[in-house]
Amino acid sequence: MEKQLEWTMHLDDTYYMNVFGKRMPVVFTHGKGVYLFSSEDKKYLDMIGGIAVSSLGHAHPRLVRAVCTQARKFIHCSNYFYIEKQAELARKLCDLGFADRVFLCNSGAEANEGAIKLARGYFYRQGAPRPKIVSADRSFHGRTMTTIAATGQEKMRTPFEPLMPGVVHVPYNDIDALKKEVDKTTCAVIIEMVQGESGVYPADLSYIRAIRSICDSTGALLIADEVQTGVARTGTFFAYEQYGITPDILTLAKGLAGGVPIGAVLSTQEASTGFLPGDHGSTFGGNPLACTAALAVLDEVDRKNLVGKAKSTGAFLVKKLRLLARKHEIIEEIRGAGLLIGISLKKPVAVALKKKCFEAGLLIGSVGDQVIRLAPPLILTRAQAASFITTFDAVLTESGSTI
Ligand SMILES: Cc1ncc(COP(=O)(O)O)c(C=O)c1O
Repeated sequence: MEKQLEWTMHLDDTYYMNVFGKRMPVVFTHGKGVYLFSSEDKKYLDMIGGIAVSSLGHAHPRLVRAVCTQARKFIHCSNYFYIEKQAELARKLCDLGFADRVFLCNSGAEANEGAIKLARGYFYRQGAPRPKIVSADRSFHGRTMTTIAATGQEKMRTPFEPLMPGVVHVPYNDIDALKKEVDKTTCAVIIEMVQGESGVYPADLSYIRAIRSICDSTGALLIADEVQTGVARTGTFFAYEQYGITPDILTLAKGLAGGVPIGAVLSTQEASTGFLPGDHGSTFGGNPLACTAALAVLDEVDRKNLVGKAKSTGAFLVKKLRLLARKHEIIEEIRGAGLLIGISLKKPVAVALKKKCFEAGLLIGSVGDQVIRLAPPLILTRAQAASFITTFDAVLTESGSTI
């Protein structure tokens, strides 16, 4: 109903803090699989998936059943008590990769806060505190005061200074710059395997391997921020697997519980000694509802081989997009990994193109003026990917010189 949209826009304009600027003029009422449906009964193919969050798409029956069953039992209980689903989820996350220990929280930023705090705590507990954190230019690690300090985008930091001291930024994929900054005062290097929020830039193989060896030689901990790249998104469960290294600490959030808020800090046994009882915690973190949702997602990722699907459907999309790039001059480059794909444009028309796609029933993301980002649900089929390509091709053809 048009009224529902108008009324929601009015309430939002009047009462919600204006942090998102002008949003897309739509209210979704429900979803099914990779589709969302608006109050005006229009169907949209969701190629952004709540920015890499809706890993099982919308209203996935197994996820819905798991959440409803848990909600009927109890949603929350305090971390004063043992929580069965939390313990099960911690074990599952350790079984999936390098980690021995897990801490659960509520978002990506909170996970990165926890990871940085853990790294500082680790050296403090060793009796030799190290203040320095090395991060990358163009990185994104969250919106809290510590995570904006770690974020390598000045516009996000400047208005809120003074920030947490001790962070140094170096150019991404530049081994020499990293070597110069990481020293015996460095407690951690925090890095994304693919920089999603600044335009989908994957790290070079040699870069991540060099970070590992520089960390090893200086004793610094390697924090992999896999908030966006984790949970099968890039075609392996964790993106670090593609680099032949393991981190000391890793953060997850976004896709882990398919849309139920969650964050996770994973670490080796050694790094986990940075927290003693009472050092860290969370009221909501690791509650039965979020953990049940995450367990359902992980179960489905496993049952349906969504790691393999993200890899093959992602490769299919990249191949087709590269063909489109030959036809449409506006496309400069296609990059990414698995189902995290960036389409860089030759002109600053990403927002205009996103709007045209929206009118054509496609939900895509834009990063800055010149990059389109795709991060669809991991359940996207090849046929659905092909239908996206057909519509996207038509939008580019129709838009021609008007975008
Ligand atoms: C790599 C990375 N780290 C951290 C965050 C922050 O996560 P959240 O928005 O859940 O706090 C994001 C969000 O986009 C992200 O992409």
